[in-house]
Order: sequence, then C-alpha cells, then structure tokens
Amino acid sequence: MPKLKKTKQPKLVVRDKGKKNMFWPSPEMKKRAWISDKGIYDAAADNPLAFWENRAREGISWFKEWNKVYEAKPPYFKWFVGATLNASYNCLDRHVEAGNGNDVALIWEPEPVDEEPRVFTYSMLLEQVSKFANVLKSLGVRKGDRVGIYLPMLPEVHIAMLACARIGAMHSVVFSAFSPESLKKRLIDAEAKVLIISDGYYRRGKKITLKERVDPILGETKVRNVVVVKRFKEAIELQQGRDLWWQDLIVNASPDCAPEQMDSESTLFILYTSGTTGKPKGILHDTGGYLTQAYWTSKLNFDLHPGELIWCTADIGWITGHTYTCYGPYSLGVKTLIYEGAPDFPKEDRFWEIVEKYRVTVFYTAPTAIRMFAKIGAKHLKKHDLSSIRILGTVGEPIDEAAWMWYFENVGNSNCPVIDTWWQTETGGTLINALPGIGPFIPTVAGKSFPGTKHILLDEEGKEVHGDSGGYLVQLPPFAPGMLRGVYKNPAKYLEEYWGHYGKEIYYTSDGARYENGFFRITGRVDDVMKVAGHRLSTAEVENAIENHAFVSECAVVPMEDSIKGHVPVAFVVLKKSEPSEHLEHELVQEVVKAIGPTAKPKEILFVDDLPKTRSGKIMRRLLRKMLAKKEVGDTTTLQNPESVEHLQKAVRDFLHSDH
Ligand code: PRX
Repeated sequence: MPKLKKTKQPKLVVRDKGKKNMFWPSPEMKKRAWISDKGIYDAAADNPLAFWENRAREGISWFKEWNKVYEAKPPYFKWFVGATLNASYNCLDRHVEAGNGNDVALIWEPEPVDEEPRVFTYSMLLEQVSKFANVLKSLGVRKGDRVGIYLPMLPEVHIAMLACARIGAMHSVVFSAFSPESLKKRLIDAEAKVLIISDGYYRRGKKITLKERVDPILGETKVRNVVVVKRFKEAIELQQGRDLWWQDLIVNASPDCAPEQMDSESTLFILYTSGTTGKPKGILHDTGGYLTQAYWTSKLNFDLHPGELIWCTADIGWITGHTYTCYGPYSLGVKTLIYEGAPDFPKEDRFWEIVEKYRVTVFYTAPTAIRMFAKIGAKHLKKHDLSSIRILGTVGEPIDEAAWMWYFENVGNSNCPVIDTWWQTETGGTLINALPGIGPFIPTVAGKSFPGTKHILLDEEGKEVHGDSGGYLVQLPPFAPGMLRGVYKNPAKYLEEYWGHYGKEIYYTSDGARYENGFFRITGRVDDVMKVAGHRLSTAEVENAIENHAFVSECAVVPMEDSIKGHVPVAFVVLKKSEPSEHLEHELVQEVVKAIGPTAKPKEILFVDDLPKTRSGKIMRRLLRKMLAKKEVGDTTTLQNPESVEHLQKAVRDFLHSDH
C-alpha cells in the first residue's frame, strides 16, 4: 500500500487556561460537532420523554409508530409502546433504499498479514444477512427462538446477529475466549436450538480451534444444528445431520427475506454477564429502545458523520462489541472495522498500522489496552500517520490519569477529545460521558449523564450525596430506552440485583462514584464483580471453579490492583487434608480455565489455614482486598476468627514481596 500523505488535522481541542489537565472543544470541533450547545442537557431534562420521542422519530425507521412513548410499572418499564420495527432493516435496508448501497459498511482485517481483508458494502451485507436469515429459517428457527453464537471476530458474527434480528430470533453471543463449559451453561439456560461457530481463528499467529473443543458439551444442550464457518483449510469432523458448513448453506440460500415486523419491546438479544453469584445472568435487551440509544449515543458521543469509520476494538462477546461495532454504526450507515487478532501481532505496531491503512476516524478501546501500549512505548505510533483520528473513546474500567494523558498525547496527538464512556451490559448503550462538541475532557472523569437520562449519588441510607465525598451511582426514571428489560428466566434476580437496594424506582448500578468539578468520576464496582482487563467476572464464579477440586475445602477470590489489567483475581484457598504444592496450584488454575476461560486465571493461589469470617459465617472478602492493597485492615474483633488475620497478613506480605 502506498504511503499516505499526512493530512493536516484541524485543531479539535484546547487546553483550559486555568486547569492543566482539562480540555475543551476548539471552535473547529464545535463547528463540526452534531451538538455543541450545552442547552441540550436542560432541554432534555425538562422533558425527557419528548427528547427520546423526537430522537426515536428522527433516527429510527418504524413500520408503525407508538401509541405511548413510555409506560412504567416499577420496576418494569416500556418504551415506544405499540410500535413495530426491525433492527436489521434499520441497519441495512434503509441505507440501500436511500441509494447508499455502495457505501462501505464493514471492513474486516484478518490477523495473518498475507491474507486479504474482506470489505462489505451495505448492499453486500444486506444480501449476506438475508441469505443467512433464510438459512436459519430452513433450520427451523422461528420468531422468539434463541440462537447461540460462539464466533470470533469474523464478518459472519455480524451477519449472524443481523440475520437473527431480521427474523425476530434472539441471539445470544458468547465470548469465544470463554471455555466450552461456560458456553454450555449459557446454551442450556437460553435453550438455544442452533449454534453458530467457526472451526477456529488466528491468535498471535496460531490457529485456535473452536468447533472440536465444543463437540463434547453439545450433547447436554438442546442444540439441534451447528453451523460452522470455515476459517481454515484443514478438514474437521462434522456430525452428520447436526453440523453444517456455513459456506455450503449460504450458496443455495435465497437473497430475499422480508424483515419481520417486531414489537418495539420484543427481545433483540440476550447477553450473559457476571453478577454477584456464580451463575451468569441473561440480560435482555429490547429492540426499539436499545436501537434508539445505540444510534444516538454512537452519533453524538463519537460525532460520527457520513463516510466516517469507527474502530471499536471490543470483542463481540461483550456489550461494547454489540452496540459499537454492530448496531450503532450500522444503524447510522457509517463504516465499522473489526479485527480478528491480537493488538501486537506480528509486531507491536499492528493497531496503528490498521488505523493508518483504513484511516480510522473514531478509535474506541479499553484502559487496559491503553496501558499496555503505553508500556510498550510511543515509538511504534510514530511510524504511522494517525491524523485521521478525530475522536478517542475509552470504556470498561476506570482510567487512571497517566493512561488518559498517554492516550491523549500519543494516539490523539494532543488534539482529539477523549470520551470516557461509563455504562454496563445492562444499560445497552453509554450513559455518562462528555460530548465532543461540549466537553470538558478531563482525565479520570467520565462526565455528565447523557441528555435525557439522570444519575445521582446516594449514601447507604438512600440520601442524596452532593459533595465530592462519593456515593453509590444510581439512575432515576424515566429509565434510558436502552436499559435492560429483565433477566432471562430469572425475574427474581432482576428485582434483587437492580431494584433491591433503593426500591423499585431507582436503578442501582453497583458502581461507586464521586463528583469532581460537578462531573462524575467513576471509582468502580462495589459488589463482588471484578473487572479484569476490562472483562467482567464474578468472584463467585472463580471460587466455584476452584472449589470444584476435590482437595479444596473453601476459597475466597478477590481482585488485586494491577498496573496493566486494572485488576487481577487472587485466590485464597483452604485445603482439606492435602499439602500445598505447585502441581496443585496448577490444577486449580486449570479448573478456572476449564470452567470460565483463560481471562479468569488467578494471578496467584495463596494456600491459607483459614479465611476471615463474620459471626454469621460470611467470608470477609473486603478484608482480603485491603490486605492485598497494603491498607490497614481496621477493627477485626467482630470476626468469628480474628486469629486468622495475622496468618493471612503474613501470607499476603510474602506474596507481595515475591511479586516485586
Ligand atoms: O464498573 C463499571 C465498569 O464496567 C462495569 C460494566 O461492565 P460490563 O457490563 O462488562 O460493561 C462494560 C462495557 C460497557 C461498570 O459497572 N465501567 C464501564 N465503563 C467504565 C467503567 N468504569 C469506569 N469508567 C468507565 N468509563
């Protein structure tokens, strides 16, 4: 590819005169931004229903309009009641009908550098989606059915999701780096009829197989057919009558498939996520509300204009991948890029090579990736022309000031707004961040509630906190349109987890936050959920996996701070009779890899004699967290076994000592 000429970048941000690390949009940025008048916040707050109603009308194509914009029976609520639409129609057909079928929709970059990228226009993608929708129909998938998708970052993952949306089936995408055991749990819970998978994918130059690893678990599920995307040349075993090649099915499928007219409130997808127990929750997202939020947050947060290219580096197995590689960009009709492989393969500058090659306009990634790049050093960036980037985004975990500044200065050339977006699997789309044309952009500060939504901080008793001392982050009604509508087959969990803290009219986020300059600074989870390299994991799930081993009596897993990954799990294990050994440690780690996947691997297994417990027998994980953070543990006299503390402190000290 010929070397591109460096383009002159317009000045997009200016530094606050009074505050060293506070930035504002430049006049040029304000001029190009969809929104630069901060009056939008007050106008939306005065009448949030009218705000969202207008957004839904302006951004989304409906087959039938709603007869009521919002209806609440706390803790349940509906948006766009009585309306019908189709998400795949909104993402594809309407752009083709508007004469933009030849616009590029998707760019797929394979990991092997000698392989050609695959590029799809909106017309091409519509054809593939319609064909695959017909394939699903031919396999007996009907409106309301669940389809499991266990695919890596291949174009087929978007095609499969949009094909499900087209026929009104719910997709349930499972992160392909999760283990087959975790896939099994999710397939069983969702009662998926069909599973879409690939024979494998490339990662750091290696062929990672998927299908053959999944075969042993399929018998325990209700999966009748497995559609396999062929990524490799090698033959694999297919079970006759059950397994089918994607490529064979698609050849003969008709490219005509009318989109189903779906009720706005019908479930578009289920996405399993970790909560405070060992069992993942199937978060339910509706169609109309979710798509409205996906469209508007993509457009306003990232200031996406026609022809622009967003590269959101999240895997499709997470909500960020759903909303900002797929539904958001396609509903807007812009270009989206997905990349199959590792960020530093074959060399450390792979990401920046991709940015330069395709002239990425919006780059959206996680703090862990930023810290990793910062550690590698900026010299790899200097080799590439990154001047196409207009907006930088970050998501998934709190970002520290050093990482934010590194990102801003090196990737954004001190010239692009950094949009720190706070949100969750449950919220479907972003909720708290600065808008590019309004600002300010401040390291570690996410910003304000998205127009038309409202968040506040509460103390334990439910009293609002105004100062900067911090509190629990909650959302007030009317709830954002993209919010979860329930937990699949588990209404009790929905009630308990989100509405059990402050009542049925206050959504509890499980995050702590405080105000800084009047904006939200998110401090992190206050429950037993860990964010490991931005991945959401429950301590209970890791504990269950370890306790599965016959030699383990009990175990407590807590997150420990890590300079790259944000947090990493550390396990405190009490054995039955056996002696600690390296071999046993390895076996316990393998239990975790088998049950969840390599992402959840504990950094360390500490064999201890006892765990700190309250009088009622509850393990005091908080105490263990403090020890790992080298903080004072405070009063331990109320423990059932205060004598355990000294021994635990020694074990932690030895570990921390050996870790440095
Ligand atoms: O703790 C918050 C953290 O990620 C959690 C949600 O994780 P998940 O459902 O996997 O969704 C991640 C992608 C949206 C939140 O409860 N989190 C997310 N974004 C931020 C964040 N913490 C700090 N700053 C953020 N920008």
